[in-house]
Amino acid sequence: MTCTVCRGPAVIDLRRHNANFCAEHFLRFCRDQVAKAISQHDMIAPGDRVLVAVSGGKDSLALCDLLVDLGYHVEAMTIGLGIGDYSEASTAAAVAYAETRGLPLRRIDLRDEYGYDIPTAAAVTRRVPCSSCGMSKRHLIDRAALEGGFDLVATGHNLDDEAAVLLGNVLHWNAEYLGRQAPVLPARDGFPRKVKPLVRLSERETAAYCVLRGIDYIVDECPMAEGNRHLRYKEALDSIEAASPGTKHAFYFEFLDKAADRFQPDVAQAQEGLRPCARCGSPTTTDVCAFCRLVERTAHAEPVPVELLRAGRGRGRGRARRGAGGAAQSRAATS
Ligand code: AMP
Ligand code: FES
Ligand code: ZN
Ligand code: ZN
Repeated sequence: MTCTVCRGPAVIDLRRHNANFCAEHFLRFCRDQVAKAISQHDMIAPGDRVLVAVSGGKDSLALCDLLVDLGYHVEAMTIGLGIGDYSEASTAAAVAYAETRGLPLRRIDLRDEYGYDIPTAAAVTRRVPCSSCGMSKRHLIDRAALEGGFDLVATGHNLDDEAAVLLGNVLHWNAEYLGRQAPVLPARDGFPRKVKPLVRLSERETAAYCVLRGIDYIVDECPMAEGNRHLRYKEALDSIEAASPGTKHAFYFEFLDKAADRFQPDVAQAQEGLRPCARCGSPTTTDVCAFCRLVERTAHAEPVPVELLRAGRGRGRGRARRGAGGAAQSRAATS
């Protein structure tokens, strides 16, 4: 296998691009794909201050690396979600990366600063963990960006993530979520601009990028994701992609080109009724925002270890089914 660019030995084959690359040209390919996404979708302007939300996984660490390499002014933030060993290892990976590369990293820990964690929130609210997890992350990332004076937030959602969320939203014809499924969400009253510069790269590509760049990332998936619909949609798309390379890319980008306009949300309607939360000042349609209400409900609850929650979720079909649906809903709303 030889590199399509230089004919040297290739380290990776990309069937959807009908190309093979050596390490040097693969890294260049990744950089070019991110630069193209940023310019095609007007994601970042020169001089913008970018806050990258970092989980410690391959995507968000590759994203930091690529944005720094492209010359953007980047700082990172990571949230300790309290999901047992998984969260500890995730935070450790984010911290190690930031330290070795000299990247400023803001850290927030749910248990230390707000008195709860995701397994406990899931047990108290009796909803799937992804629901309080997604909401907490959204709230804290938005707030950190606004308080830190950043122009935008960048997240590590990749092509596999976006295609799987799109499939879920199409299967249920979820018009509201389809309207928000864009690589850029503009800033609006009290919410920062949000961008997804990795939409042109697949999961396999961001993993290969990290390996070639010597970036240590957490390989494990969140233990609470097990069995959720989002993973099933990813598997379904993987098997179609294996038979027809390029399908995921076409599915997502043709949606953006040909159909996304039809689902555009009514901005005026979305902003109607928004007012500052009585506790934290974040925009909300209720007196007290969902995050502050969650903190209120969970901060004094007995902590629930993640193992206990997983064991409980494994029993009883009704609970498990509700879980899977909720997880997919939460994904659809957050992405
Ligand atoms: P996920 O929803 O876990 O697939 O993550 C999607 C994106 O959200 C990641 O690529 C990160 O940019 C961001 N993210 C996920 N988890 C965290 C976290 N614990 N702290 C900060 N950002 C996160
Ligand atoms: Fe981790 Fe949902 S809480 S995947
Ligand atoms: Zn080459
Ligand atoms: Zn609030």
